[in-house]
Amino acid sequence: MEQARSTDDVLAELREIAANDGTWGFGRAFTYVFDGPDLGDLTAEAMRLFAGSNGLDPTAFPSFVRFENDLVAFARTILHGDDEIVGSVTSGGTESIILATKAARDALRATGVDGRLNMVVPITGHAAFHKAAAYLDLDIRTTAVDEGFRAIPDAIEGSIDERTALVVASAPSYTHGVVDPVADIGAIAKGAGRWLHVDACVGGMVLPFIDDSPSFDFSIDAVDSMSMDLHKYGYTPKGASLVLYRNAALRSHQFFATAGWTGYPVANATVQSTRSAASLAAAWAAVSHLGPAGYRALAADSMRATTELLGVIRANEALELVTEPDSPLVAVTSADVFGHAQAMKKRGWMVGVTPSFAHSPAHMHLTITAAHLPLVGELSNDLVETAPTESASGSILGGMDLRDIDPSMIGVLLDSLDLDRDRALVDAAIDSLDPDARAAVISAFLQHLYR
Ligand SMILES: Cc1ncc(COP(=O)(O)O)c(C=O)c1O
Repeated sequence: MEQARSTDDVLAELREIAANDGTWGFGRAFTYVFDGPDLGDLTAEAMRLFAGSNGLDPTAFPSFVRFENDLVAFARTILHGDDEIVGSVTSGGTESIILATKAARDALRATGVDGRLNMVVPITGHAAFHKAAAYLDLDIRTTAVDEGFRAIPDAIEGSIDERTALVVASAPSYTHGVVDPVADIGAIAKGAGRWLHVDACVGGMVLPFIDDSPSFDFSIDAVDSMSMDLHKYGYTPKGASLVLYRNAALRSHQFFATAGWTGYPVANATVQSTRSAASLAAAWAAVSHLGPAGYRALAADSMRATTELLGVIRANEALELVTEPDSPLVAVTSADVFGHAQAMKKRGWMVGVTPSFAHSPAHMHLTITAAHLPLVGELSNDLVETAPTESASGSILGGMDLRDIDPSMIGVLLDSLDLDRDRALVDAAIDSLDPDARAAVISAFLQHLYR
């Protein structure tokens, strides 16, 4: 980037870089891309119109207030909230979770509780809670889940004490797509005077539109806050999530303000200070266009595709469903799941593999969206045809253990492999490590990538 270049030249290179991001087609990149309605022109124009705005001062750019209030009002309605429910639009699920955790922590501190605080999170609670605990200096107490991977209320009760700032339930959990027993957990949290957060990041824009889904939202009066992403089953461009609170008093602990420096006084609702309204405007445009009826139709399509896929998995001996989901998230395993995922990639499906943890086996994770209804036949066929019948043999590095390698060499080592060819072996090697060692390996690799 040392010399100025023409816009045509730069655009041509941008197109090349984009092509190199992968040629995953519509509905083929699970987890990373939620394909569904074709909103490309609408959201691109919304982003273009608002790219130059700045949320640093919403009085200078009233668009922020308009868009956020409208999106919170939409969420309030679909999540059975009353007029007291307030919230903010954030950059994603992780930011929503960090902010709700901060609000809960500061609300507890405001009652005079000091010392080290903690949060109680089932092992199926998203990694973002671990990040929030690390950023906000809270202890995290993880609790067991049952055979169907739902949080166990008694285990949560046993972990709560007077220093518990936050209790977490998922609706649904990302890994297994099941909804925790929110009402039962709520009764415990309320009885102990604790803040209950329901993480509906992945489910908030789909569960409300599925008939007979388990209840999880503000209709349960113990629920203090919720996170709900628009950039997943809301089908909006990345960078849009909601964090919602039972009332403004709870949300007040989320905000930050200071006038303690030489410059302009700062009051921010979210983590970012200067921010553009591009993804906010795109989210507003998508939600305004689709409305509840649009989302209901999309949820019906994704559930129809899910039901068909579940039928194929149940009927096929080489495939094993990890658990029955309450949502369009499917965890499926086989005799050699890492090899299976790699074979699926060769057929053009970007399938995420999840390592084993507690009684959850290593599995492929399929986020089924409305885009999959016309594709589910092909997806099912490919899953069946590529299913290995025998477990894997062979190991990366000729029997050497990843644990024995100096972390600073991990990046160099992984770089030296052909990930297209060796990915299954790398995934299996990572799966063989304990969770702390897995984290160390992937962190070392990430640090190596950004050099
Ligand atoms: C249940 C749940 N919570 C939180 C998150 C984190 O969201 P993000 O990746 O937008 O930060 C996810 C992401 O998949 C999720 O599924």
